[in-house]
This record gives sequence, C-alpha cells and structure tokens, in this order.
Amino acid sequence: MVRSNHKNSRGLWNTRLGFILAASGSAVGLGNIWKFPYIVGQNGGGAFVLIYILCTIAIGLPIMLAEFTIGRKTSLNPVGAFQSLKSGTHWVKIGYMGVLAGFFILSFYAVVGGWTLAYVVKAFTHTISNFSSPKEAGQFFGSFISNTWEVLVYQALFMGICVGIVLRGIQGGIERACKILMPTLVIILILLMFRALTLPGAMAGVEFYLKPDFSKVGPQTILIALGQAFFSLSLGMGCMLTYGSYLPERENLASATVYVVIFDTMIALLVGMVIFPAVFAMGLQPTEGPSLVFSVLPTVFVSIPFGNLVSIIFFALLAIAAITSGISLLEVVVAYFIDQRKWSRKKAVLITSTIIFSFGVPSGLSFGVLSDVKVFDMTFFDHVDNFASNYLLPLGGMLTAIFVGWIWGTKSAEEEIEKNEAKFRWRNTWGFLIRYITPIAVFLVFCAKFF
Ligand code: PFF
Repeated sequence: MVRSNHKNSRGLWNTRLGFILAASGSAVGLGNIWKFPYIVGQNGGGAFVLIYILCTIAIGLPIMLAEFTIGRKTSLNPVGAFQSLKSGTHWVKIGYMGVLAGFFILSFYAVVGGWTLAYVVKAFTHTISNFSSPKEAGQFFGSFISNTWEVLVYQALFMGICVGIVLRGIQGGIERACKILMPTLVIILILLMFRALTLPGAMAGVEFYLKPDFSKVGPQTILIALGQAFFSLSLGMGCMLTYGSYLPERENLASATVYVVIFDTMIALLVGMVIFPAVFAMGLQPTEGPSLVFSVLPTVFVSIPFGNLVSIIFFALLAIAAITSGISLLEVVVAYFIDQRKWSRKKAVLITSTIIFSFGVPSGLSFGVLSDVKVFDMTFFDHVDNFASNYLLPLGGMLTAIFVGWIWGTKSAEEEIEKNEAKFRWRNTWGFLIRYITPIAVFLVFCAKFF
C-alpha cells in the first residue's frame, strides 16, 4: 500500500502505449537519424546493418529488460534503485554513474539538438536552399557552428523546450508530448522514404544498404556496431530504468521491451532507406562522415522537386527526435533530485537544467572560439562525449548486467517480470544472455577503446 502510494505520487504512465512511445522517444534520437547512417556509410553498408541488428537483439534487448525490471521493482531513480536493492554496497555507484552520464550527455546533446532547431529555421527562411555543391553546404555549416551567439541561443532554446516538457511531469508532459511527436516522426519518415526511393538512380543506394559485403567487416566493425546499439537504445545510464520506474504493475515488461527495441531498430533502418537512396541518386559518397546530414542532405534537397518543403520536414523530424531523447536525459537527473533529495519537480528541473546548460557552453563553443583549445587533440565537446558515451555507458551497462545476473539475481528479476502472471516465453534465453553473453560482449566494446 505504502509502495503504491509512493508510486502514484511520483507520477505514472497513463497507458501502455504512452509508455512504449515515451521509451521509444528516448531511444530514437540523433543516434538513429544523424549517427546511424554515417556509421553504416563508413562501415560497408549492408554487412554492418546485419551485425548491428544482431547486437541489438543479443545485447541491447536483455539489458533493456533488466533496466525496466529494476525500475519497476523499486519505483526509484537509478541511485535510489540500486540503494533499495543492495543498500550500502558499491553497486549504488552504478546509479551515480548513470545520473552523471545523463548530465554529461545532455550537456553536449543540447548543442547538436540546437543545430537541428537552427536548421528548421534556416530551411523555413530558405537560407539553406541555394547550395550548388556539398562543399558549399559544408562551408555554410562550418561557419554556422562557429558562430558563438547563434549556437548558444539555439542550444538554450533546445534546453528550454526540454525544460517546458519535463516540468509538466510524466503523464501531462513526457507522455503527452511523445504520443504526438513519435507518430508524427514515423509518418514524416515514410513520406520521405517514398520521395527518396522515386529519385532516379536511387536503387544503387538501396543495393549498398541492403546487400551485405562482408569484405569490409573486421573485429572493429562489430565493436562499433555494439557501441551504436548501446547509445541508440539509451542503455547503460539508468534512463530506461527511470522510465520503468513510472510503470504500473499491470504491464508486461518483456513484451514492452520487444516493442521498444523493434521501434528503435525500425526507425534506424527506415532512416537508412531515406538517406542512401538520396545520397546515391545525387552521385555522392556514403562515406561522408558526421557532416552527412547537415552538409550533404541540404544539397540533395536543392535538386529535388519540393526540396525546400522536404528539408523543412526533415530537420523538423531530426529536432523532434532529439527533443524526445533530450527530455529522457533530463528526467534521469531530475528524478534523482526529486526522489533522493526531496526537491520539488519545479526546483529540480530549473536548477539542474541551468547547471547542465552552463556546463554545456564550452561544448557549444568547441566548433568556434574554443576550437583550438585542445587537450590530447580533442576539444571540450569531444572529451565530454567520449567520456560519457564511450566509458560511462558501456561500464554502466556491463555492471547492470552483472548486477542483475549475479548479485540481485535472475530469479528475483524473473519474479518481477512475471508479476500478475505476465507471459515471459524467452525467460531462459534472457537468463543466459544477461549472465554470460551481455557482460562479456560489453566488456569487449569497453576494451576496444584502449586499443
Ligand atoms: N538514444 C538516444 C539517441 O539515439 O539519440 C541518445 C540517448 C538518450 C542516449 C538517452 C542515452 C540516453 F540515456
């Protein structure tokens, strides 16, 4: 009774669909739309896609279910959750690491999120609709991201939008926003896919994307695919744990996990079906790298009918995806201060977002006035990204798998998953994956950073 009152007072998802859309909203983000296509482009196309899907199923899926389960069992933020399951032990540090990762990731995520908002505005004002070559578009992009005030204003705007949504809480804010934004995103993507596929020469892109060429695959490719699966599914920092903590007991955790993983993977695959046909139709290279979306695509849009409209739609889509992930990052930090420090939601949101934004200012300036300030040949932005994404997330994910598999125990976890007679057909497979495969595989990704 006490527990259910506590659960209600923190806020709960209103519907199962709302929860699945919110968790998918967290998963689908810049990782899917901006990063996935350029990584596929650089790693050989179809073969990489296959390996990515395997990593998602064998490693991502079990960890996501583990996070949802800890979250719903404890109804707490990452720190409180580990404390309530194994209080006074070092395992609680996984929770602190998660909150810290949320803080760091949002500080630079808001920078790129700000760029997407700026490109929506620039598409509206026709500023990005006159490029004659990807080089020209690239120069424009370079000069935009080095403009101090413009970058900071959009970064602040991105944070402001996340703040506005998270302030309204679970049902009224996050759930409502995702219920509108996620279906919008799917519709826009499908429209764009038809547009891209009907361009002359598009089929070469489809072939590159779907026909596996294993000659380009090495051990490093597998590690990159695994790391991408991790970031894309929002795993390793207690984000899915926090979203799971707002779940009522009647929901089936195992099937919700499957839906979220399918949704995230489908979006990434769909994005590929938009980008590669378009890039090949334009006679461009898929190996362009991180600037693929911001400098290659505007050139693609210039040369197609209704190009300006398509570019407004595309960047709006990118911004929407970034916002629904941004709010999940903020919610992890906010939930910690609400549960553990007993702050009001308003106080937690306003104070943490101000500090996150301030800490993110040097990241925003890393492409302009601070671009020459480098330590070990990396800017401030690179360091924060590298530390959080490449160290904190894999470490957090691996420790969470070990915690659930060996410390808290798969038996206790399965009890929670099967509550209310919920069906869990792949229970033995999950137990095996979370105890053996997942920790070892993530350990390998982690080690790869040192080679
Ligand atoms: N999954 C998000 C993306 O693909 O852009 C990024 C992210 C969100 C990572 C939330 C981690 C997280 F907790």
